[in-house]
Amino acid sequence: MTERIIMDVDTGHDDAVAIDMAAGSAAIKIEGIIATAGNTSLDNALANTLNLADALHIDAPVFAGSSGPLLRKQVTAGRIHGENGFSGPVFGKRNKQVQNGNFVEFIIDTVLSNPGEISFVAVGPCTDLAIALKAEPLLASKLKRIVMMGGSSGMGNVTQSAEFNIYADPEAAQIVLHCGAPIYMMGLDCTLQTILDPSIQQRMYAIGGKAIDIFRSSMDFYIRSCLEYIHDYPAMHDPCTIAYLIDPSLFEFTTQAIEVETRGELCYGRTCLMWPDPDSNVHFARKVNAEGFWNTMAQCFQNLKKEIG
Ligand code: BDR
Ligand code: CA
Repeated sequence: MTERIIMDVDTGHDDAVAIDMAAGSAAIKIEGIIATAGNTSLDNALANTLNLADALHIDAPVFAGSSGPLLRKQVTAGRIHGENGFSGPVFGKRNKQVQNGNFVEFIIDTVLSNPGEISFVAVGPCTDLAIALKAEPLLASKLKRIVMMGGSSGMGNVTQSAEFNIYADPEAAQIVLHCGAPIYMMGLDCTLQTILDPSIQQRMYAIGGKAIDIFRSSMDFYIRSCLEYIHDYPAMHDPCTIAYLIDPSLFEFTTQAIEVETRGELCYGRTCLMWPDPDSNVHFARKVNAEGFWNTMAQCFQNLKKEIG
């Protein structure tokens, strides 16, 4: 069965791999992509997303999303993703243009005219989805599910307590987590099990083709910055969302409500997991079958090579 998705991205090195996988999987149909501020400014995230979508021949429209979080002061991740948010690859002149029209209307129209069909994939701050959920109270009940990258049951990666996507807009994440739609949340507990170590790098690079050329030049930068600031090879955080949609059997979850700390000074942006509750709509990823994950990613790159060279 084909999974129809709207992607919300702050492209971003690992966002780009999520887009690669969505474009390269026969199981996924991208209905639209919304670029949002997060890792970098909206202008940068939009340019990066358009460049990649153009290079991968993605037909789906690319919209401009929010230029900043709902309430908090904007934070970005330039240290990790570089000055333009996607340092490394160099793109030529592009043909793909930003889609005219409002991203909120696009989300609402697409989901309401396809009830129960559309999954919303959020791999940046939750701002855009939160705005749409507030604008249309019926939206949550018409979504098939939300698959998001964010949160942690323990340590954060931007502060001791908070993971970047949640920290970048905690109030928006809290709105999303309370919307009632089924949510599959890829937090650091799971995504840190997908470390792109040298043997995996070589395995992916050996596939070759245009998408791998972009991947390789982007990973050259990302690996350097992750080794410098995180002291490890990069995790494929955002691609976990797409791998889940392609093959849910790769992931193990626990089910419980999750609250975001929006008031505490020390723990601002922390995701607080409540006791397990089978009736909760929120599923928090605990484990990924890493070998299955890499096989899925490799298959997507192989498909892209067949499609675009
Ligand atoms: C998340 O933060 C961003 O820098 C990455 O793109 C990913 O979405 C990981 O914490
Ligand atoms: Ca991201």
